[in-house]
Amino acid sequence: MKQIQSYEAHKQEGILLNANELSVNLNQDIVKEIQERIPAILFNRYPEEPVTKLYEAYAEVIGCQASQVLAGNGSDQMLGYLIGTFLGQGKKAYTIAPDFGMYDYYCSSYDAGIEKYATEEDGSFDIEDFIKVGKEKGVNLVLFSNPNNPTGHALSKAEVLKIVTGFDCPVIVDEAYMEFYGESVFDEVENYENLYVTRTLSKAYGLAGIRCGFLISSQERIAKLKANFIPYALSRLTQEVAIIALSHAKEFDESTSFTCAQRDEMYEIIKDFKKMTFYPSKANFICGKCANKEALLAAFEKENIVIRNYAGKDTFRITIGSKEENKKVLEILTAFEGE
Ligand SMILES: Cc1ncc(COP(=O)(O)O)c(C=O)c1O
Repeated sequence: MKQIQSYEAHKQEGILLNANELSVNLNQDIVKEIQERIPAILFNRYPEEPVTKLYEAYAEVIGCQASQVLAGNGSDQMLGYLIGTFLGQGKKAYTIAPDFGMYDYYCSSYDAGIEKYATEEDGSFDIEDFIKVGKEKGVNLVLFSNPNNPTGHALSKAEVLKIVTGFDCPVIVDEAYMEFYGESVFDEVENYENLYVTRTLSKAYGLAGIRCGFLISSQERIAKLKANFIPYALSRLTQEVAIIALSHAKEFDESTSFTCAQRDEMYEIIKDFKKMTFYPSKANFICGKCANKEALLAAFEKENIVIRNYAGKDTFRITIGSKEENKKVLEILTAFEGE
């Protein structure tokens, strides 16, 4: 069997602040609306193709054309599809380090290589040098998350576009956490012939469980990509839930603002801690480093809180959760600092 760079699924027990999910489940009024819709779903029939209603619903929420959107089983599937489309044996992707682990998984599953440009500890990097090095290496695809997972560092729109113009090959901007930041480049897809943007309902919309993500690119490129995309990627159920949730987009904006405010408040308190270093974040998590990380992880474990641990490094990442969860996190960090 082919050896693929594997990806470990996240732990699902305890207070989960490890996967950048939304801590609260879908609002019960929305759940009720979904329940009312269920009897009319044709469970015996394959989903209709194309999934026009979903494209329209998402396009309306973010403000683009439905014909610029393709939807799939999480943005993971869109990333995998693009990597499979543009790469193969003898070709290589170019990303930054650290970034999202699934890039390695997909490159390895398509027998492609992956080159990484190491960022500073806070996730920042020299854009011009990044472009220069990538060109020297003759890369065939550029991809990175913005805001970055795990650092939370975000590039400005101008910086992203500089990268897009710096390369002739396709550039994928993975905007899984964009709702927590706001400087998206999806509205530039018609202006740059190599620009692809991926988005998701898994983070700000709290719908990681339904697996729904999007790819946004020019109408022309989306038409081609649609023609080759796997049929029936999204179940009827996922489509219905996504459409209903998207009709409540404004309510999700409120929870996103709450998360950002909590993140910034927490960072203000912990940024000068001495036993741990924290980095400013534009996503729904905060990344930190700690020389004595095992003791810190044990302190979280004692309180049944699961945070993301990067094995073999001194890094960890904490998702911004509910008010109570964030309070608990702060108590643990403050106690650790004071020990
Ligand atoms: C940077 C980044 N991109 C993409 C994804 C995948 O999200 P989805 O649930 O849409 O597949 C994640 C999930 O954690 C992520 O962190």
